[in-house]
Amino acid sequence: MSFFERKSIKQVLQEEPINETVTVRGWVRTVRMSKNVSFIELNDGSTLKNIQIVISADNDKQFDNLNKILTGAALVVEGKIVESMAKGQAIEIVPDEIEIIGEALPEYPLQKKRHSFEFLREIAHLRPRTNTFDVINRFRSKLAWGVHDFFRAHDFYYVHTPIISNNDAEGAGEVFHVSIFSPYEMQTRQVPADDFFGLPTVLAVTGQLEAESLALGLGNVYTFGPTFRAENSNTARHLSEFWMIEPEMAFADLDDDITVIEAFVRELCRFALEECQEEMDFFNQWIAKGRIELIQQIVDSKFERITYSEGIDVLAKANRKFEIEPIWGMDLKTEHERYLAEEYFNGPVFVTDYPFDLKAFYMTANDDGKTVAAVDLLVPGVGEIVGGSQREHRHDVLLESMKRKDIPCDVLKWYLDLRKETTTPHAGFGLGFERMLMYLSGMQNIRDIIPFPRSPKNCSF
Ligand code: 4AD
Ligand code: MG
Repeated sequence: MSFFERKSIKQVLQEEPINETVTVRGWVRTVRMSKNVSFIELNDGSTLKNIQIVISADNDKQFDNLNKILTGAALVVEGKIVESMAKGQAIEIVPDEIEIIGEALPEYPLQKKRHSFEFLREIAHLRPRTNTFDVINRFRSKLAWGVHDFFRAHDFYYVHTPIISNNDAEGAGEVFHVSIFSPYEMQTRQVPADDFFGLPTVLAVTGQLEAESLALGLGNVYTFGPTFRAENSNTARHLSEFWMIEPEMAFADLDDDITVIEAFVRELCRFALEECQEEMDFFNQWIAKGRIELIQQIVDSKFERITYSEGIDVLAKANRKFEIEPIWGMDLKTEHERYLAEEYFNGPVFVTDYPFDLKAFYMTANDDGKTVAAVDLLVPGVGEIVGGSQREHRHDVLLESMKRKDIPCDVLKWYLDLRKETTTPHAGFGLGFERMLMYLSGMQNIRDIIPFPRSPKNCSF
């Protein structure tokens, strides 16, 4: 049988081909053996549901390998589909043949029905064999389709920007260096002259700057790729390697940016509810009660919008003692963001026009001389999921801002030239894919939303 003629467990459970003989392949989730009847629950990753294999004493086939079928074993089972007498499933398989393709050891770590997320992080290579991670991994894949669907529907081009970069575009200095030399060799070399590229290189903290160049030819573009930050933030919302979606639109200002962000986030919510029902039902039942209703409210409601300065006023007047007192000019801390999104607005809120000193060099300077045309989208439970801005398209203003922020102008000469030789107003934003998935699912730790998380002191899988 050709690979494409095989049936997944999902297909078999959907089609319910009673009395037909089928072949399924999967991993044993549980097995219960007894004298009269034995049950094997098989899962192949195509759906959360298992298919049950029932071997009763009156089955005339001889299965001399049953005692080798342990939890975790990989099986190929051929058998007849029959109606199930038991509750919980419509059909089950009465096997003719059971082949053990891969035996499992008795000490296979996933023996219990439920394990803590902390324990599972220690065995990240086996997490894809558990219900929760199965669901999360499928959800992640589907949401990525949702991202591409949205941009395709609006005629944005998907562009690929470099992962090896020569600049720290966000200017935070939180970069991983890329070199052919080991740290030991570095000490004896004329780095970077001797090094591969002949100049200092880092893993990209964003694809934005290159996406801007592409948008200024293609019109509307987006990136969707890995992003690297050596931030020493050991929190449940930070990764050292995460995935970001960065749209960039020519002939767009901050209002246009906000229009696109809102439509995009709303569409991902709708997509999750309509195209990922099995996954959302699972999250709603096991991870965060009421999640479906909450996400439905997002689809139906309008997002709020305030300026940073208004936000500081709201915080200052709040009947609440913050650990750090909110004063104009400071970066909003988690407690402030949470207050605004969770208590004051109780929903997604755009905060715009941040002080110049808090944001990256490339944002359009506002006429007040103090703030820039920036926007962050804050959501309850997660905080910032989107950061964006109108870009500074005036060469001289950009140059001035780069100087004030100590950004090396030689490395970014091409970026400056995009404003000198020619120029176009444009805007864009970045959505953290993992943060969005956390918000949709209600998962509490970002390390459980990506299969192999990288964070400080954590890269063993
Ligand atoms: O606000 P950020 O740093 O913006 C940029 O990188 C811009 N270049 C985006 C743009 O305008 N094209 O990051 C954007 C989003 C954040 O809102 C957050 O959702 C996510 O990326 N993010 C992280 N997610 C996980 N771990 C981290 N360490 C993250 N840092 C940012
Ligand atoms: Mg940000």
